[in-house]
Amino acid sequence: MRVAIMGTGNVGQALAVALRRAGHTVIFGARTPDAARADERTVRDAAAAAEIAILAVPFEAAGEVIVAAGGFPGKPLIDATNPLGVADGELSLTLGFETSGAERIAALAPRAHVVKAFNQTGWENMQDARAYLARPVMFVAGDDDASKAAASTLVADAGFDAIDLGGLRAARLLEPLAMLWIELARKRGLGAEFCLALQRRGAGA
Ligand SMILES: NC(=O)c1ccc[n+]([C@@H]2O[C@H](COP(=O)([O-])OP(=O)(O)OC[C@H]3O[C@@H](n4cnc5c(N)ncnc54)[C@H](OP(=O)(O)O)[C@@H]3O)[C@@H](O)[C@H]2O)c1
Repeated sequence: MRVAIMGTGNVGQALAVALRRAGHTVIFGARTPDAARADERTVRDAAAAAEIAILAVPFEAAGEVIVAAGGFPGKPLIDATNPLGVADGELSLTLGFETSGAERIAALAPRAHVVKAFNQTGWENMQDARAYLARPVMFVAGDDDASKAAASTLVADAGFDAIDLGGLRAARLLEPLAMLWIELARKRGLGAEFCLALQRRGAGA
């Protein structure tokens, strides 16, 4: 697929490596494209050239990127962001549990088909999820079945066990799941070299 990654940071770069390895064409949408890099375009040009886009910018920047991109009309838009902040010294959901960042992004991009994925583990695991014996799980949630299927293909091609979690509302579970990973990694001493996997009874290796 022709994939546009909005954001050239940790998540964007790691996913680009994984998706290119799987044979996808990846371009970046950057606010100041580096003229020396052939794979960087403006957000608008990258969005126009892509079949599917990944939002890998801070949640707070999502609205600006959606406007700059022209709204991603008719296209799958994978939301990898997490609306996280710090309250009373603890990591917290800036939007609480009654909605999700993904639903806010869908409201900001009503003509896009928003799918939540690639938000639930650290960027350190996104470049080479296949390094694990058991495939790391990556839940996928979205309201448009075709877009969710396309997103699931990318998730699986990046080496994850892609599990359909239903409609976009399920992002309310997936954004706190990102917090769980961060808690384990950063505060409980596991570091970034671990992932969560889903095991099925009777499905031995
Ligand atoms: N870090 C993780 O392990 C992890 C894991 C899962 C999900 N996430 C989520 O993924 C997102 C990206 O995280 P990250 O760690 O990759 O962040 P990062 O390394 O700070 O990169 C953020 C990228 O967003 C770009 N950006 C910011 N505002 C923009 C705008 N208005 N228009 C276009 N581009 C803009 C930045 O571009 P400039 O260089 O121009 O500033 C930068 O390339 C966040 O929402 C985060 O919550 C992160």
